[in-house]
Amino acid sequence: MGKPLIAGNWKMHGTAESARNLATQLSHHKFQENAVEMIIFPPLVHISAVSDVLANSRISLGAQNVSQYPNGAYTGEVSAEMLVDQGCKYVLVGHSERRVVFGESDQTVAEKFRAAQNAGLIPILCVGESLKQRQQDATFEVVAKQISAVIDLVGLDKVCQSVIAYEPIWAIGTGETASPEQAQDVHAAIRTQLGEAGRLTTLLYGGSVNKGNAAELFKQPDINGGLVGGASLEADEFLNIAQLVEA
Ligand code: 13P
Repeated sequence: MGKPLIAGNWKMHGTAESARNLATQLSHHKFQENAVEMIIFPPLVHISAVSDVLANSRISLGAQNVSQYPNGAYTGEVSAEMLVDQGCKYVLVGHSERRVVFGESDQTVAEKFRAAQNAGLIPILCVGESLKQRQQDATFEVVAKQISAVIDLVGLDKVCQSVIAYEPIWAIGTGETASPEQAQDVHAAIRTQLGEAGRLTTLLYGGSVNKGNAAELFKQPDINGGLVGGASLEADEFLNIAQLVEA
């Protein structure tokens, strides 16, 4: 079984002050010895402020995006090394909002994954199908292809050392969650694709997770935790969800 994780993707929300406040509330929580690892992903511009708040806490820091290039003339981009320098341990790659809104291809996602790992970050590779693809029964094929693109570039072992988040696009920010069975079926298929080397890979579910639906999702054998959007913007709600991940 993969190491249990709970991740909060704040997306493009909040001011420096609200980011500091939310991180402070989370950092004051008394986690139990065996509690899951919590990771928060603030907007890039607030990373430094949040990093200061988390300095002596057991909460990990991550970034929502990273450049595929190590350094140079890439206006507006931020390298993996810069994220490490700011205290990040994780980075999201291939979030569907990056793929759909910003046109990131499977190849770009794979290159970002490689750049992150080369700098010592743990990538959380996000995969998932659109509503149309699900209706066309293409879910398993789409997810397998997104993962294969990364395996082709970095190799299976490197992918197995990362975290994979299954986030069906139709469930993101819609209030419509994949049923525990639907989510488990895709997680099991991912586990099968990774083979023996992926037995211990952490697989997360994301898409309208809240404290009401999280317990059933996290009980599934191949779901090791969650990647939470909207519900991670409120400390109590996010902490409630975190407690439902079995450590
Ligand atoms: P919501 O939890 O708001 O649906 O967002 C999920 C997500 O995209 C996390 O990365």
